[in-house]
Amino acid sequence: MAGVEGRVIAVTGAGNGLGRQYSLVLAAAGAKVVVNDLGGARDGSGSGSAAADAVVAEIKDAGGEAVANYDSVATEEGGKAVVGSALDAFGRIDGIVSNAGILRDKAFHKMTADDWNAVQQVHLYGGFHVLHAAWPHFREQGHGRIVVATSTSGIYGNFGQANYGAAKGGLIGLINTLAIEGRKYNVLANAIAPMAATRMTEDIAPPEMLAKLTPDHVAPVVGYLLADECTETGSVLVAGGGQVHRVRQFQSKGVAFAEVPTIEQVGDRWAEIVDLDGAVPGSNPVG
Ligand code: NAI
Repeated sequence: MAGVEGRVIAVTGAGNGLGRQYSLVLAAAGAKVVVNDLGGARDGSGSGSAAADAVVAEIKDAGGEAVANYDSVATEEGGKAVVGSALDAFGRIDGIVSNAGILRDKAFHKMTADDWNAVQQVHLYGGFHVLHAAWPHFREQGHGRIVVATSTSGIYGNFGQANYGAAKGGLIGLINTLAIEGRKYNVLANAIAPMAATRMTEDIAPPEMLAKLTPDHVAPVVGYLLADECTETGSVLVAGGGQVHRVRQFQSKGVAFAEVPTIEQVGDRWAEIVDLDGAVPGSNPVG
């Protein structure tokens, strides 16, 4: 097989925006797609089947194969049900795009525990629930492809998005370890930080910028990360408007203290500690 042809891929939050586009592109390339969407509003309230059904209809009209799933990824049962839909309809699961998302933006001093929890439940726990249900299948068959939706807010931070940034940063931590644990089973795990005009960003970026950021620029990058020939793993890609970049952590040359320093001695060497000249890609010293 080549590309994603014949592969069974579940895309969560696929009823709108980026997830819809991922599903259309994957199905057009011959994948069988589980189109998951809870069908709620941008803040996570409400639910319905229309969003997922519309995308499935679009795929079928174009001659592709897809089934709808309406479960919330925010629960363990929901995550299992997404993978269950793939097994019931197509007999296997080869890839997950963990893309479902909501927003509850607020400055940190105004953020409630409910705003925090709701966002973690959909993005971070949602990723866990679906991936954990698919993982045994990936290991057993010696093939699996994972793409999680992160964000530049998770990588760099953004005003009003402490909850969202923490969840998106957590997903990078998740794929870093899944890449290590999955390597010997041909299970690859990467993260995409998309930039696209969707209902999520419609009031966040200026219209002239959004006009250039259609979701179709991002979908082929996600498609490649799911392809049989892809070998990339543990990477974070930023993609939007025709640009595709890899982001990663670097470690400064830093200093090595021969003896336990005083607070003042740390301060004296601070400029050297944080100087990124000659920094190298970081790695886990115990990994
Ligand atoms: P969107 O709001 O158009 O689509 C998100 C979809 O997720 C919606 O259809 C919604 O119904 C679904 N969803 C929400 N909660 C769910 C749940 N519990 N279970 C199942 N489905 C659920 O947003 P967009 O822009 O397409 O975002 C897709 C992903 O990309 C999100 O994870 C978002 O955080 C991420 N992202 C998007 C960026 C952009 O520029 N649009 C920037 C950075 C990240």
